[in-house]
Amino acid sequence: MIFVFSGTGNSLFVARQVSAFTGDSITDINQKIKNGDTLPIACSEEVIIVTPTYAWRLPKVVSDWIEKTDFDNAGRAWFIMTCGGEIGNAPKYNRILCEKKNLEYMGTAQILMPENYIAMFSAPAWDSAKQIIERAGSDIEEAAAAIKNGICFKVPRNNIYDRIMSSVINPAFYSMFIKSDAFYAKDSCTGCGKCVSLCPLNNIRLKDNKPEWGKSCTHCMACICCCPAEAIEYGNKSKGKSRYQCRL
Ligand SMILES: Cc1cc2nc3c(=O)[nH]c(=O)nc-3n(C[C@H](O)[C@H](O)[C@H](O)COP(=O)(O)O)c2cc1C
Ligand code: SF4
Ligand code: SF4
Repeated sequence: MIFVFSGTGNSLFVARQVSAFTGDSITDINQKIKNGDTLPIACSEEVIIVTPTYAWRLPKVVSDWIEKTDFDNAGRAWFIMTCGGEIGNAPKYNRILCEKKNLEYMGTAQILMPENYIAMFSAPAWDSAKQIIERAGSDIEEAAAAIKNGICFKVPRNNIYDRIMSSVINPAFYSMFIKSDAFYAKDSCTGCGKCVSLCPLNNIRLKDNKPEWGKSCTHCMACICCCPAEAIEYGNKSKGKSRYQCRL
């Protein structure tokens, strides 16, 4: 059974590719989190978690949801993390999570996909993004084949830099940067409500047909990248940048 969390579609794309290869069904973690649903899940023996990388680890909202949810019958867990560059020492924390859940840890695969973090960096235009996604194909297949054959993923790079980013920098990054204060909607907002329905944390509401952001945000980039009117900005940081979503 595949569990996927995705802000802008990269991880969902990868989950679909893996599902096509292994035949596993897909469960949407975004909806589970949005609905506050931590009810036990009747699983297959194999659990595959597919997520973006946030600050060199699993998104905290995902690891929190996994901790709270019982996966009945599950025995082994594989993690697939999409990223714009590197997952750091995330595997260490995925292993710890497995120990807490009494699951056998089968490894973490890193899949290089287009960067989506436009509140901080730039995302590639769609033509370049498509090339990055094409290049990811062989890594996705390799990961899917390992799962199908019931073997562990190869151990990814783990140097001193990776260990620092995933340990000390991860919590500092969350407290310094992951905030929704800078989001605002421009006059081009049509009041369609798509940002409200996409937000996995129910952090957006419409007031007088314009979105307002609350305090609970994980910077998934769904609202700003998927607004059909491109009406959302993140202070000055997002101005003039391509909005990214995986359209495959
Ligand atoms: C809040 C945030 C933090 C991120 N941190 C990292 C990171 O530590 N390393 C990295 O390579 N990419 C990082 N990225 C990029 C995403 O992991 C990458 O683009 C991912 O494929 C997006 O997946 P999605 O489309 O399923 O949401 C970050 C993106 C966001 C929004
Ligand atoms: S998705 Fe965009 S256009 Fe629609 S309500 Fe939100 S900000 Fe406005
Ligand atoms: S407010 Fe936007 S960036 Fe923050 S969690 Fe919701 S959809 Fe994601």
